[in-house]
Amino acid sequence: MNAAASSSFVLKAHLLWWDDDPYFHGHATQHSVPKGAMAIGEDGRIAWVGEADALPEAFGAWPSVDRHDTLVLPGFIDAHLHFPQSGIIGAYGTDLLDWLDTYTFPEESRFGDRVHAASIAATFADALLYYGVTSACVFSTIHPAALEELAAAFDARGMGLVSGKTAMDRNAIPTLQDSAQSAYDESKALIEALEPRYERFDYAVTPRFAITSTEAQLEVCGALHAEFPQTRMQTHINESAREIQTVAQLFPNDASYLDVYDRFGLVTDRALFAHGIHTTPAEMTRMAQAGASVVHCPTSNTFLGSGLFNPGANREAGVNIGIGCDIGGGTHFSPFVTMQEAYKVARFHDQSLRAAETYYWHTLGNARVMKTHTDTGSLSAGKWADFVVLRDPINDPIAALRLERVETDEQRLFAYQFFAPRVETWTRGVQRTTPPAHRRPHLKTTPARRT
Ligand code: GUN
Ligand code: ZN
Repeated sequence: MNAAASSSFVLKAHLLWWDDDPYFHGHATQHSVPKGAMAIGEDGRIAWVGEADALPEAFGAWPSVDRHDTLVLPGFIDAHLHFPQSGIIGAYGTDLLDWLDTYTFPEESRFGDRVHAASIAATFADALLYYGVTSACVFSTIHPAALEELAAAFDARGMGLVSGKTAMDRNAIPTLQDSAQSAYDESKALIEALEPRYERFDYAVTPRFAITSTEAQLEVCGALHAEFPQTRMQTHINESAREIQTVAQLFPNDASYLDVYDRFGLVTDRALFAHGIHTTPAEMTRMAQAGASVVHCPTSNTFLGSGLFNPGANREAGVNIGIGCDIGGGTHFSPFVTMQEAYKVARFHDQSLRAAETYYWHTLGNARVMKTHTDTGSLSAGKWADFVVLRDPINDPIAALRLERVETDEQRLFAYQFFAPRVETWTRGVQRTTPPAHRRPHLKTTPARRT
């Protein structure tokens, strides 16, 4: 594959995206252009977007790519998942801590082998593209070679990557531990090597979670995050009851789980905290004040029985929310499955997520929590031409029954969470996947309404 093989063209399709959070800013955030055109330059970026009738003359001679009778959305973004866990999805177990010890740590120990890491990285990146994911915030392992291979795999496919070497220097098997010093040295070397090498790579300082890092290691993570102000920070927080209890025992002088990270300078506006199911009101207030983000991972939370994330409480507190599949605690790469599970989990709090809200999270919302929103997340001029072409499922009579009853864009998107469409994925203006050939018309151009 070639990351930079785009040639200029004009995509003609029904374009749909969000330019802000529809929960807070209403229906006007949704842009739906049934007879749309998107001009994409040789640099792989969107040069112009709007009504096909209004296409400026400058783009009139560019070849046209026709995708009528489909819906074109921004490429999906996943804000939390683990590439070395691709092989342990659905591994039978009990709670989070047992699952980590029994399956996860032994599996991750294998990633010191560069050939193995490269092979899984390729499979992982291909799987994401297949399901429409064009950029992601990913956990690797402690091994520098694993991160190098992951970054190369994403770059080769034109995908955006936020990731870092995992830091963990206690409470894991010896083959999966580094030290405070090696975490600092290796992370610094990786930042300096990979950020200039790959245009779409951003480093995330990555202490796995408070249980597997000593104070000395959390301190060097905070130092790195401060020394390299462009870095993101990713970790886990408030996922399971046993985890929270263990953190309280390991850090008896900190008032809360978040306080542990805060003491080391890890609660910033570039921080992504996965899970946050049992976050207290005081912790939410502090996260909001810092501009930090929580990443909701619903299929993981139901699989491991960790608990039910409360979107409303986080929103009321002003915490930014992202969404991720959290493979391999999570059970599916597909954003449609993740969004479906988010809907179900919210129902347990008597909340109902509109399609616009979940799709926003999986596009511009995640770009914002990953701080890649100037480059990705919407179909806006200047951003990378990362997009998905969605077609109704085929050979599925029940899906057909359901979709026959759909009248608006938003109803169709809502239904797609349960009857996944066929997905064709583009990154940097290059088609990366091919959906099943057969296509049938389905779209009505009824103006979108609130459901
Ligand atoms: N907490 C620390 N490590 C992990 C992990 O790999 N998966 C999940 N779900 N939670 C974690
Ligand atoms: Zn995770």
